[in-house]
Amino acid sequence: MRNYFIAGNWKMHKTRAEAADLAKALAAELKDGKHKYLVAPSFTALETVGAVVKGTNIMLGAQNMSSEEQGAHTGEVSVLQLKDLGVEAVILGHSERRHTYKEDDALINKKVKLALRHGLEVILCVGELLEEREAGNAEKVCETQTVEGLKDVSAADLARVTIAYEPVWAIGTGKTATPEDADAIHAYIRGVIGKLYGDDAAENIIIQYGGSVKADNAAQLMAKENIDGALVGGAALKAETFVPIAKFN
Ligand code: PGA
Repeated sequence: MRNYFIAGNWKMHKTRAEAADLAKALAAELKDGKHKYLVAPSFTALETVGAVVKGTNIMLGAQNMSSEEQGAHTGEVSVLQLKDLGVEAVILGHSERRHTYKEDDALINKKVKLALRHGLEVILCVGELLEEREAGNAEKVCETQTVEGLKDVSAADLARVTIAYEPVWAIGTGKTATPEDADAIHAYIRGVIGKLYGDDAAENIIIQYGGSVKADNAAQLMAKENIDGALVGGAALKAETFVPIAKFN
């Protein structure tokens, strides 16, 4: 049985005070929630939010990290620094990193391995652009991003990896993939994991959906066989929009 995993990616929003207020509201409202939860504030609010969620059922996540452990990398944040702040998981390969900041599969794979080596959980994001979908290449793009992102990741380490399928055309646009379309890609990705790691790994891996998840579509998405949770952007910025998603059932 896979557990649902609902994560909020706060992107480049919120001062420390705003982040603390949201984290406090979530900690109170989700304390009886039955799923796995994570919030990923900006680096600047990690310590503040970490103090609020410590000892609760909400994990502390980062939105990115450097592919290098430490050194002369101006403006980057290292896995050691994240761990020092109590970070338990990191989102890697988000489409904004891939497309706006030109991160490629090799760089993302380096980050994935570094995070896993240091004991973090990883949410590895994959997803196609609209033109890739229209050209009939959605599956192929997701397969490549999954295979390359997980290159040289052991089966033991895979247990700490969640895949987030986030069609780029659905992120922040209000357009959601239909539950059927999303489920088809999730099933395909599960098959890719099966080919790489075997049937048990395929059965156990959590595959979140991301892209304009809202309270009114969360339950239909999560009802699908292969959709095991959500990576939420816009609707994660307020307790009143995130909590109904986190408590979709
Ligand atoms: P969205 O973002 O929910 O605002 O579409 C999802 C994401 O980027 O993770």
